[in-house]
Amino acid sequence: MLHYSENYKINKVSVIGLGYVGLPLACAISKMTDVEIVGYDMNEEKIKKIKNRICPIDDEQCAEDLKTVNFDISFKSEIINGSDLYIVCVPTPVRHDYSPDLEPVESSSRTILKYLKKGQVVMIESTINPGVCEEIVKPILEESGMQAGVDFDIVHCPERINPGDKKWNVYNIPRNIGSTNPAITKITADFYRSFISAEINEMPDLKTTEATKIIENTFRDINIAFVNELAKSFDVLGIDLLTVIKGASNKPFAFMPHYPGCGVGGHCIPVDPYYLIERARQSGFDHKFVKLAREINNSMPAYTINLLANELNKFDKAIKNTKIGLLGLSYKANVGDIRESPSIPLRNILNEKFASLEIYDPYFLELSTCKSLEEILEKSFAIIVATNHTEFLKIDSSLLLKYDVPIVIDGRNCLDKSELTSKGIHYKGIGH
Ligand SMILES: NC(=O)c1ccc[n+]([C@@H]2O[C@H](COP(=O)([O-])OP(=O)(O)OC[C@H]3O[C@@H](n4cnc5c(N)ncnc54)[C@H](O)[C@@H]3O)[C@@H](O)[C@H]2O)c1
Repeated sequence: MLHYSENYKINKVSVIGLGYVGLPLACAISKMTDVEIVGYDMNEEKIKKIKNRICPIDDEQCAEDLKTVNFDISFKSEIINGSDLYIVCVPTPVRHDYSPDLEPVESSSRTILKYLKKGQVVMIESTINPGVCEEIVKPILEESGMQAGVDFDIVHCPERINPGDKKWNVYNIPRNIGSTNPAITKITADFYRSFISAEINEMPDLKTTEATKIIENTFRDINIAFVNELAKSFDVLGIDLLTVIKGASNKPFAFMPHYPGCGVGGHCIPVDPYYLIERARQSGFDHKFVKLAREINNSMPAYTINLLANELNKFDKAIKNTKIGLLGLSYKANVGDIRESPSIPLRNILNEKFASLEIYDPYFLELSTCKSLEEILEKSFAIIVATNHTEFLKIDSSLLLKYDVPIVIDGRNCLDKSELTSKGIHYKGIGH
């Protein structure tokens, strides 16, 4: 095991991957500590933008930080040479068949391999399944001829950032840190304490730290799947699920409200459970419950389209050739992030069914067919609200009657059902 002297100090830190996770982190380290911080991202365009202090991600705090911080960044990897701590923040997506794609983690480990020296530390912040640090990252880095835990160390500190969240950000979200060496766990934890005001919990090893992040996101996916299933069941039973959830929520213990919707999106919740499912499968365990949750959540766009078809039936109309407005492409409110958004399958199904489709998202005008809310309402017979952007919350009966839109499918349960129905609008939410 590597022994670190009492006065060991991290002098140079590099962040690899300057996206939603890496860029706010690099800014925070630059702002709050006196270490030399550098950033490397293979995307040249992104590097150009950041150099011009244009924030390439939708993150207010980060955009603010970028105005003042000063650190070197490059699309050439030499910039990371000589780092005491390499922090990997690259994506961990799934392929079309939902199998984990660890290529970015592997290729960034290979990049570090070119520069790795004795006594240095490699930290993975990307979300990974239990085992990735030891089974994927370690063998690549050991091609250096050095041994992990003896000549260099690997640490995992999973990121929990929540883009668009005004309260929780890189500075105040508690973190977990684990490695194969308690001494370096303590050193890196102390370093994180120097720029994060929240608890930094030291974990016993890599695998349990990796598992922590995976269960956080799987927990959320499963709970959302539960209420999505309830939405379908209660629609049949004629019970308003939102009213039920409100009632259940005044239990002061052991109930945590989750809400149904037209699908689960983003780079984390609909992705990370597959990393657990696949790694457990390789070891002979079948995660039935987690797989079912994914299946239920993936079924919600098709369910939403069925709700639309039911409402159109009441007007003797089919989806085919009917003017349908899809409002929102982002996977969540007030964020310009389309990754794994349920709006993509919603759009695909509507196209497959030959709807006369119009799209509007103020965060994705280049992908929209309409340039304003008024324009899409004017062009639609029915609308699906797929994202609860603030701009869409002003939709009320007067606006819908003005533009002659009799049907609203509220995929986020964000509009006022009683106000709309009282004025004759055909409203259907998800379980509402
Ligand atoms: N976005 C979130 O809300 C969030 C929250 C918590 C954890 N995470 C996890 O953090 C990780 C990063 O997510 P993100 O949202 O920041 O992704 P992102 O796509 O926004 O950013 C990743 C960056 O890494 C760069 N990159 C990819 N491969 C590279 C390589 N080999 N070398 C150098 N740069 C490379 C890309 O160009 C990109 O700029 C993922 O594992 C994700 O699951 C994301």
